[in-house]
Amino acid sequence: LSPAAHTTGAAPVIRKKLMGYVGFANLPNQVHRKSVRKGFQFTAMVVGESGLGKSTLINTLFNTSLYPAKEPLPPAAERPKTVAIESIGADIEENGVRLHLTVVDTPGFGDFVNNDDSWKPIVENIESRFDSYLEQENRVNRMKVVDNRVHACLYFIQPTGHSLKQIDIEFMRRLHTKVNLIPVIAKADTMTDEEIAEFKERILSDIAHHNIHIFQAPTYDNEDEETIAEAEEIASKIPFAVVGSDKMVPTPDGRQVRGRAYPWGVVEVDNEDHCDFVKLRQMLVRTYMEELREYTNDVLYENWRTEKLLSMGVAQDSTVFKEINPAARMQEERVLHEAKLAKMEAEMKMVFQQKVQEKEAKLKQSEEELYARHKEMKDALDKQRADLEDKKRKVESGRPLTPEKSLPGRKKGFLRT
Ligand code: GTP
Repeated sequence: LSPAAHTTGAAPVIRKKLMGYVGFANLPNQVHRKSVRKGFQFTAMVVGESGLGKSTLINTLFNTSLYPAKEPLPPAAERPKTVAIESIGADIEENGVRLHLTVVDTPGFGDFVNNDDSWKPIVENIESRFDSYLEQENRVNRMKVVDNRVHACLYFIQPTGHSLKQIDIEFMRRLHTKVNLIPVIAKADTMTDEEIAEFKERILSDIAHHNIHIFQAPTYDNEDEETIAEAEEIASKIPFAVVGSDKMVPTPDGRQVRGRAYPWGVVEVDNEDHCDFVKLRQMLVRTYMEELREYTNDVLYENWRTEKLLSMGVAQDSTVFKEINPAARMQEERVLHEAKLAKMEAEMKMVFQQKVQEKEAKLKQSEEELYARHKEMKDALDKQRADLEDKKRKVESGRPLTPEKSLPGRKKGFLRT
């Protein structure tokens, strides 16, 4: 029995060999069956200036016309003046697995003369989804909790070939703690391979410089080499340079592919030599959709929830947890004690500073008084000296002294010889 088991009350772990087949090895299959029956919910957000190919890419990713053919845009003067938030939902099924997909679009982002606050409605929308989830969790009946939280945000970067723009940095800085950010370079078919490589480098250095956290495919110690290599390969493609197209086009060698046909050739969406679409799909859909959901729930939502409850005055740890865990209690007491000491020290420092300031003010005041007195006396003496010199000059020139200008303390008309 480990000492930790005594203190925490955990059951001791004894390793035993089974005598025969019991059946719990079937647990993953049970989980699989249950999840398939329940279906999955996934919410993706797309953000980027208009015309960067957001709807085309979503249609390409999920191989469905989620976005119907668009009406032509109204004239600029008739378009809304703020970023709007629009959701489209669809139930899609593949090999018996149902996915309720919601795409949150943000038309208007970055389309105005002043885009300073373009990120605001988006942050508010993400937080209101967290709010709604928290409210559902706190209900007495929690049987039907609908998860509308945003699990991934595809951020479309304009293929300028320079570096991130201020609006990109501001958006990512504001959002990276609230959503899994996946940056993509839009319309990558407009750039050459070298331009894309250099652009990616500059984007990554901007992201690192501003301490922005973007979603990375996670790897665990006990995973096989193949999975780790796959995660590393996906990571090496971030930010994904993507090309979108939901149309089939013929290639010169007679194949039908999803791509974009140009006079000089065909850009194939699903060809890894042409763009990173395949890797993006792998990250978002095929391999890491569950990780995105998990990270949203366990880290992003949890951090937001803790902050929210603390700001509402709810104490962080339950008393039960502290009672059964003396180490946690001691730790908490230590933290409280240290906080108290720090507070006392800060108060003492403040009082000391106040006293020093008062003393300094007093010293300054008496210095000023002294200076004023000294100046007064000096002025009087200077005046006296001037009078005396004036008299001396008059005596020396042989003129009699005027009675009022006689020396002080002497009889009028008399002179000292
Ligand atoms: P809004 O709905 O206005 O925000 O636009 P959007 O970002 O959804 O762009 P949309 O998917 O409507 O595409 C705009 C135009 O770009 C269309 O003519 C697309 O055919 C084209 N387009 C989409 N993806 C690509 C791409 O990868 N490369 C190129 N060259 N054009 C693309």
